[in-house]
Amino acid sequence: MLQLNENYLNLQQNYLFSEVAHRTNDYIAAHPDKPVIRLGIGDVTKPLTKSTIEALHESVEHMASAETFKGYGPEQGYDFMRNAVVNYYKRHGACVDLKEVFISDGAKSDTGNITDLFGPDNIVLIPDPVYPVYMDTNTMNGRNIKFLDATKENGFTPMPYEGLEADIIYICSPNNPTGAAYTKDQLKVWVDYALSRNAIILFDAAYECFIEDDDIYPHSIYQIEGAKKCAIEFCSLSKTAGFTGTRCGYTIVPLDLIYKTSDGTEMSVNSMWTRRQTTKFNGVPYIVQYAAAATLSEQGIKECLENISYYKENARLIASCLSKKNITYFGGKNSPYIWFECPNGMESWEFFDYMLNEIQVIGTPGAGFGKNGSHFFRLTAFGNRENTLEAVNRLDSLL
Ligand code: MLT
Repeated sequence: MLQLNENYLNLQQNYLFSEVAHRTNDYIAAHPDKPVIRLGIGDVTKPLTKSTIEALHESVEHMASAETFKGYGPEQGYDFMRNAVVNYYKRHGACVDLKEVFISDGAKSDTGNITDLFGPDNIVLIPDPVYPVYMDTNTMNGRNIKFLDATKENGFTPMPYEGLEADIIYICSPNNPTGAAYTKDQLKVWVDYALSRNAIILFDAAYECFIEDDDIYPHSIYQIEGAKKCAIEFCSLSKTAGFTGTRCGYTIVPLDLIYKTSDGTEMSVNSMWTRRQTTKFNGVPYIVQYAAAATLSEQGIKECLENISYYKENARLIASCLSKKNITYFGGKNSPYIWFECPNGMESWEFFDYMLNEIQVIGTPGAGFGKNGSHFFRLTAFGNRENTLEAVNRLDSLL
């Protein structure tokens, strides 16, 4: 008789953002006359930049002629795109080798898929609150999950403590959902902790492009000494360049990641990931990689940074409204997320319904990211300016 993966019974019924979308769509169907502003899922609103669009057109033309047409590509990504990533890392003084770069369809897939590489008995350390993908994918695999409390008291940047046991450590900085970021010094403590335990850090850098205090916060974990020996980094062009619908990201798996099996045999994580990807993944479309490489060029990044400044101004507008109302918040700087305490001790789904019914502004309830989020709420800065200003006006009248 067929056996199903019963670990799925341990998941919430719906993925967080699907649940938010259902509730929003039900409200819109019942109240078609009330204009809703969506600042829930972190989806961008600015179109792709000029360099990206031009490269997309060019690459479509390549597919139209036998001389330049591309069929199956290398699963790890085309060298032109892997090189573009290597050069992008150099901007922040991080050194990455072409063989360490794997082009993906985004950080979400790879942060989930990477769990294929690890044995079943590891202790998986997941901060709470957290991007639900880490939690859900490990739950699907029936892993031994241990939570690390991120709270208002520790500024949502929890640190290792005496007696903490972990083999796989998830860190997202700047953080989704809290907007908090680890300093270089704090990250060094995590790297040393991982090295001391032969553990691995899975570092999600999807929001690195929002960092402006470069001397304090690293864009990449590889800016920290020792990280090449204990960390995999995931990043994506979704937020950097508006690729949420175009889909392109990259994962760095250092050649120095060598761990021993129970009988002492050395295994290379880079070779394992190569084997995994060549077996289960056929690569990102040529057209997308060609456009992504143009996006990561000097001119391409300049254009992306203009869009990012626009979103940062949105974040500033939301944050200053909360400051004016004396509401405690995190993020809003070095991050596109503003994470604030629900007023009057409200629970976050209750506050979601309150916002929806009273002012028709959608955010994401903190409870969807973990128990420590149950009295917090997340707004994104990825809306357009008009909607953001309108949402701020409505918030101002409600809070
Ligand atoms: C979010 O809103 O948390 C993100 O946009 C989700 C994602 O990147 O998958």
